[in-house]
Amino acid sequence: MNQEESAPLKQPIGVFDSGVGGLTVLEALRRELPGRDFLYFGDTARVPYGSKPPELVRRFAWEISGFLLRQGAVALVVACNTASSLALGDLSRLGVPVFDVITPAVEEAQAYARVGVIGTRATISSGAYQERLEKRGRRVWSLATPLFVPIVEEGLWQDEAASLVASHYLEDAPNDLEALILGCTHYPYLKPLLARLRPDLRLIDSAAPTARTVARSLPRGPGTGRVVHYVTGDPESYRALAARLGVGTGEVRKIELGTL
Ligand code: DGL
Repeated sequence: MNQEESAPLKQPIGVFDSGVGGLTVLEALRRELPGRDFLYFGDTARVPYGSKPPELVRRFAWEISGFLLRQGAVALVVACNTASSLALGDLSRLGVPVFDVITPAVEEAQAYARVGVIGTRATISSGAYQERLEKRGRRVWSLATPLFVPIVEEGLWQDEAASLVASHYLEDAPNDLEALILGCTHYPYLKPLLARLRPDLRLIDSAAPTARTVARSLPRGPGTGRVVHYVTGDPESYRALAARLGVGTGEVRKIELGTL
């Protein structure tokens, strides 16, 4: 560890996801707030969240948030739709600003009358997107597309397997959809593929609108744009996958699950 790496971050924002999906949000946050430091937590030993019981996901989100606050986080971004749809009520008791990834995507989708939503099983069963959009008079088609998460975590987003799975999932998507919400932070990595299959759809993901929401609420910050990454799985595999996704990871620290 060099001297800069051991120096504490300045009022960092904590960002977390089950794995590398939240990096799509982290990258957008770093663009919007270049003067802020960030802590990124990828729960890579326990991914995927979307097929786990809701109470387990809530517990994971609570543990990780507590950990990030102990590391000095002054705000939290739940860069995971599954955790956003299940755990936000709990996290709002933590006494720091907490941002979800669902509200900004719903706002963005309001421009369209006929909207599709894809996400993990837990997100789709929670109805978090559907209820909010329907309340605003939008007609919604939704589908759980859980296989997209391991496809990204296994680095297969450009593989023929990804294309077969995506064609299967989108087979029944109505022709009159105008927009498709990628309701899982892993899915933006599949955008080129989804755009090829349905070039008529506006693809909406949470990254940029969430980053804009956070930037409107928090000051530019006293940091220098540093990020410390924490993972519960293997740090080297995480670093390699992030690099393939085009995300540079400086400091990656391994966290033992028992210490959370
Ligand atoms: N990237 C997460 C989401 O936005 C979690 C995916 C998963 O772990 O199943 O829902």
